[in-house]
Amino acid sequence: MIKKILFSVAFIATVLTSSVDAQVLKGKNWRVKDGVIVVDEPQRAKGQKSMLEFRAEPIKTVRVGFVGLGMRGVEAVKRFTHIEGVEIVGLCDKYADRVTISQNNLKKANVKPAAEYSGADGYKKLCERKDIDLIYIATNWQTHVPIALYAMEHGKHVAIEVPSAGTIEDCWKLVDTSERTRKHCMMLENCVYDFFELTCLNMAQKGVFGEVLHAEGAYIHNLEPYWDAYADNWRLEYNQKHGGDVYPTHGFGPCCQVMNIHRGDKMEYLTSVSTKSVNGLKLAQERMGSTTFATGDHIVTLIKTKSGKSLEIQHNTFTPRPYNRLYQLTGTEGFANKYPISGFTLRNKNVDRKSMPNIPTLDEHDFVPDSVKTTLLKFYQHPIHQEIEEKAKQVGGHGGMDFVMDYRLIYCLHNGLPLDQDVYDLAEWCCVSELSEISDHNNSMPVKVPDFTRGEWNKVKGLHFYMRGE
Ligand SMILES: NC(=O)c1ccc[n+]([C@@H]2O[C@H](COP(=O)([O-])OP(=O)(O)OC[C@H]3O[C@@H](n4cnc5c(N)ncnc54)[C@H](O)[C@@H]3O)[C@@H](O)[C@H]2O)c1
Repeated sequence: MIKKILFSVAFIATVLTSSVDAQVLKGKNWRVKDGVIVVDEPQRAKGQKSMLEFRAEPIKTVRVGFVGLGMRGVEAVKRFTHIEGVEIVGLCDKYADRVTISQNNLKKANVKPAAEYSGADGYKKLCERKDIDLIYIATNWQTHVPIALYAMEHGKHVAIEVPSAGTIEDCWKLVDTSERTRKHCMMLENCVYDFFELTCLNMAQKGVFGEVLHAEGAYIHNLEPYWDAYADNWRLEYNQKHGGDVYPTHGFGPCCQVMNIHRGDKMEYLTSVSTKSVNGLKLAQERMGSTTFATGDHIVTLIKTKSGKSLEIQHNTFTPRPYNRLYQLTGTEGFANKYPISGFTLRNKNVDRKSMPNIPTLDEHDFVPDSVKTTLLKFYQHPIHQEIEEKAKQVGGHGGMDFVMDYRLIYCLHNGLPLDQDVYDLAEWCCVSELSEISDHNNSMPVKVPDFTRGEWNKVKGLHFYMRGE
């Protein structure tokens, strides 16, 4: 009798669960498989090849067209006047007066005038030119993908501001178009070139932290003073419509690089928890008369990797807090932390005292003293910074990291090298936006992270920034 009752209970439970699965747990681009939300992954089209380690023909003078000359784009144009082997061929913004500002900046820098394009479709004429190698896109999030696709279809490499794509579908479009047209498609993730992050990457690659098991990144930046500054209110409008972590890449990119994502490891699944929107909604009520607001004030996402590591990523642009990208690495032999206090904790046995004899015995439960931190940062300075840090600090752009990014992009194009960030980095770092929204909207169910390399995530062993001659 007891057996019979237990059997009936189990049967009813199974029916209930499967009907819930069948009726509710299915979205427009995903379904539930074995308790995990799985997003559709299109197959690679015939004739399309991987862009892993892709090298384009070296370009002696990189001819550039800029699209989007707002707060970010206007500064990019200025920085490019400091890079050798570059010709600024075209300037484009929806608004002609913004083009004029950048044109005047070229004049101030003694650079010859560029062709001017304006209007919402002005970028098309720019991309159709035959004398351009690279389209540099610094428009709003809503227009990154159509402009980048059009540019690649017209034979141009593209560099796109962050986040380059907001949906999984758009990530695939960029991957597929780059693979098919054999054009670089790089996200302009500047934070990977920040001095602390790049030094830590070097330390991690040299084994100073042992095996890095966990990494945390964030974009915590109270944007209150800036909401009015975005052209046509694009940023608040985007947040009003989209949930999830809408701006993940600044905190996430440097962590993924340390973890060798798609260069020996891959992200398996993520789960997200978002708060409700309070400040975001209030802002949108005041400015747009909105009654709903999709982005929560604070969202946390956790990711598990194939090799058993974890990543955490947070987003909050709505509440009063100190600026924070976290950047925290937890290794078997050491620890690095950037915000709010930058520092290291290291095991004594892992300190290279032959090269740094002045380092005293360290307290393994505390941050190393400031003098040791200074020694470590100097000793492990990344070769890229050794080469360009001084100039980068002079030219500026978030303390110089923006210039390092532009410099490296042009350096790799000059020398026909694989770029530091490939199209799979772009897709992996950006896909978190929609995946986190799906997870959060479904009781934080795990969501499988698509493999944008289509099975080739373990082919390249470790991240490498190429230098001339390699
Ligand atoms: N990497 C960083 O540190 C960093 C910092 C700030 C912003 N950003 C990114 O840079 C991008 C631009 O942000 P912003 O702060 O400069 O915004 P912004 O509003 O100041 O500039 C966007 C510009 O794009 C133009 N634009 C819009 N549609 C266009 C079209 N169809 N053709 C040509 N121009 C068009 C607008 O007129 C505007 O001038 C965003 O993706 C943002 O996330 C990155």
